Amino acid sequence: MIASPGRVNIIGEHIDYNNGAVFPAAIDKYVVCGIQKTDQDECSILALDKKELIHFNLTQLAKFPTGHWANYIIGVINELHQKGLSIAPVEIVFSGNIPMGAGLSSSAALENAIVFGLNELFQLHLSKTDMVQISMHAEHHFAGVQCGIMDQFASMFGKKDHAILLNCHDLSFEEVPILLDNHKLVLINSNVKHEHVDSAYNERRRQSEEGFSVLQCKFPELKGLCLASINQLKAIQEEISPIVYKRCQFAIQENARVLAAKAALTKKDWKALGELLTASHRGLQHLYEVSCPEIDFLVEQAILHPGVLGSRMMGGGFGGCTINLVESDQINDFVDMLQSIYLKQFGQSTDHYMINITDGTKMIDL
Ligand code: GLA
Repeated sequence: MIASPGRVNIIGEHIDYNNGAVFPAAIDKYVVCGIQKTDQDECSILALDKKELIHFNLTQLAKFPTGHWANYIIGVINELHQKGLSIAPVEIVFSGNIPMGAGLSSSAALENAIVFGLNELFQLHLSKTDMVQISMHAEHHFAGVQCGIMDQFASMFGKKDHAILLNCHDLSFEEVPILLDNHKLVLINSNVKHEHVDSAYNERRRQSEEGFSVLQCKFPELKGLCLASINQLKAIQEEISPIVYKRCQFAIQENARVLAAKAALTKKDWKALGELLTASHRGLQHLYEVSCPEIDFLVEQAILHPGVLGSRMMGGGFGGCTINLVESDQINDFVDMLQSIYLKQFGQSTDHYMINITDGTKMIDL
């Protein structure tokens, strides 16, 4: 069996695909998956939680409708084929407890579980980095989301009690101990997922790439949007639209916040760390425009609470979870307060998750 975790991201949102630095960690919520060879001509996959069984032939890898879980699995197999790595028919069964659509990367966990399991079963000799890239490309080509590499990387490379400071430019990374003293990271799930999230995500990526291509004409030595300075961005302001300018401004500022957050964490400066989280949210809300009213409400209310040092939306946006830095003895009060005020405002409840930071994708014995 393979266990593959979801992830949180402490800070560094929407900059993995702009060669920025991000700060995610694998969490103790998993996709668990069994894979074995079969004599049948077809592959079969049983999604236990959905109670759905599908069959397909390895010579005819077709996409399922957008959003269907099968795309993450068949997408991985398709990437293996593209690399000239052949597998024989398999039976797969999987289940999990990562809430879907909450921004905790259940899809990256599933992709990683599949590529990890197939790598073991067929002795494909893929490195962890190869597997992460296969998972990411499966998302691009089968699920239709032009995501960066953060989710798959965090899920695969996670380390217990450490966050990963990942430099997406060259995939170098540092494992940073997460020792928060008398604080905890608390996730609040808004339980909303707005429509057209994937196309809005892809549009943000296009806009920031557009800004970068103009920057690169003027500064050919630049290796990524996040590696530019605000002064360099100002130098091309007249050549790009105000929207593209805002997207680029966010990316450059967010990258600086990630590095500052790592420094704050190392110095145990919880106040500074909290302020960086909230500043990240402001950028995502006003410059990158990937938040939504429900999430903005949760952040506004959170930072009014005396036990909360900082709060922000987490993941791709337009719904999902907020991540909050909270004093441990105030957590119950904080969670109850948000629950009732959110219910009153939006007529639906929040969920909250206390997470532990855990190891990445691995084989387990049941
Ligand atoms: C999604 C993507 C990631 C990343 C985040 C935003 O989770 O899969 O690659 O871009 O959004 O930080």
